[in-house]
Amino acid sequence: MNFDLSETQTLIRDTARKFAREVVAPRARQLDREEIFPVDAYRQMGELGLLGVNVPSEYGGAEAGVVSYSLAVIEIAAACASTSVGMCVTNMCAELICQFGTEDQKKRFVTKLVSGEAVAGAFALSEPHAGSDPGAGTTNAVKKGDRWVINGSKQWITSGAYAGVIVVWARTSNEGNKGLSCFLVEKGTPGLTVGRAEDKMGLRGSNTVPLLFENCEVGEENLLGRQGDGFKLAMVALDGGRIGIASQACGVGRAAIEASVKYVKDRHAFGHPIGDFQALRFMLADMTTQQQTAELLTWRAATMKEKKTPFTREASMAKLFASEMSNKVCDKAVQLHGGYGYIDEFPVERYLRDARVQTIYEGTSEIQRIVIAREVIKAG
Ligand code: CAA
Repeated sequence: MNFDLSETQTLIRDTARKFAREVVAPRARQLDREEIFPVDAYRQMGELGLLGVNVPSEYGGAEAGVVSYSLAVIEIAAACASTSVGMCVTNMCAELICQFGTEDQKKRFVTKLVSGEAVAGAFALSEPHAGSDPGAGTTNAVKKGDRWVINGSKQWITSGAYAGVIVVWARTSNEGNKGLSCFLVEKGTPGLTVGRAEDKMGLRGSNTVPLLFENCEVGEENLLGRQGDGFKLAMVALDGGRIGIASQACGVGRAAIEASVKYVKDRHAFGHPIGDFQALRFMLADMTTQQQTAELLTWRAATMKEKKTPFTREASMAKLFASEMSNKVCDKAVQLHGGYGYIDEFPVERYLRDARVQTIYEGTSEIQRIVIAREVIKAG
């Protein structure tokens, strides 16, 4: 077991850290307050290689591996969770197209995604009545000549109003999970309408919208993977995506701890800095232990993915533990700040609001437990 970072991993982490501290963090509060989606930050992340960290260099990626990807997400998330979620989904879409796309699709779509030209990628799987059970989706695609015509609606689509490339799941037959196929749809395609942005509790600098497809046509060359393989593509993408969200949770948890350490040194009560009191020290000890445990689980899943060994169970364990951890840690951070934790003068109330969705999206904690239990039983 080697806990040292390689030269490449250190470079990616430091690049992301510098960008996060100098560009992302100073605006994070404003993005949250004013619900601003930072298009310029996405373009800059593209220039720095952060939108395709684990994407081959021939398609414009940094080709730096999955651990590097996790390290980069942690840095961006520690500065601004909103910015990190769009980064995660863009990396996930680019990797999915690299894995299952034709050469033409990789050249057309992946290069646009990782360079920032497309601003972001979007992952249009969930529907108003099909979230945890994507196999129940009813959006459909019908073949007409050499075109696919998509009709239906999608819900909770991250970066949906800005994404230049959208990966869309649609039903091509009535065979449940086996009836789903996957399509690449570009922003501005006639028949695609972006709905009203959701007014969210957290991640307010991220854009979350419904998408409506009304006779939205794409060429047959936009089918990603084989017809009927869409469900499996979604599962494969989400296995990797869950490492991204686990990393995001680690980043937000770390930021909450850093803010708390600063606060307990500055704030005095009963004639002492409050960090002198054992009650708060024990809180910090538990927060740090949980956050670092989550990082180790996340990097183990990342290492397994990088080595191409099955990692479904480990990705779900990392996502489950890290997202629950960040909620607990951010909650403790607010508690430890007292009244100041409840107002926006300090960042911990934002961290808590941002952390809340992590146990919900890319598979709820309950779905992660289903995946983990199935894998545990399968392995005997
Ligand atoms: N890798 C490859 N194939 C997989 C797989 C995986 N990890 N998991 C399942 N499959 C395959 C199975 O082998 C099976 O194949 P066969 O039919 O050939 O045997 C097929 O897929 C169906 O699998 P299941 O029977 O396990 O499917 P299920 O209907 O019981 O569902 C589930 C399983 C794990 C609950 C799945 O539905 C799931 O993950 N749900 C959660 C969906 C989710 O995470 N949504 C998040 C939305 S995206 C998002 O949030 C992005 C964002 O913007 C932030």
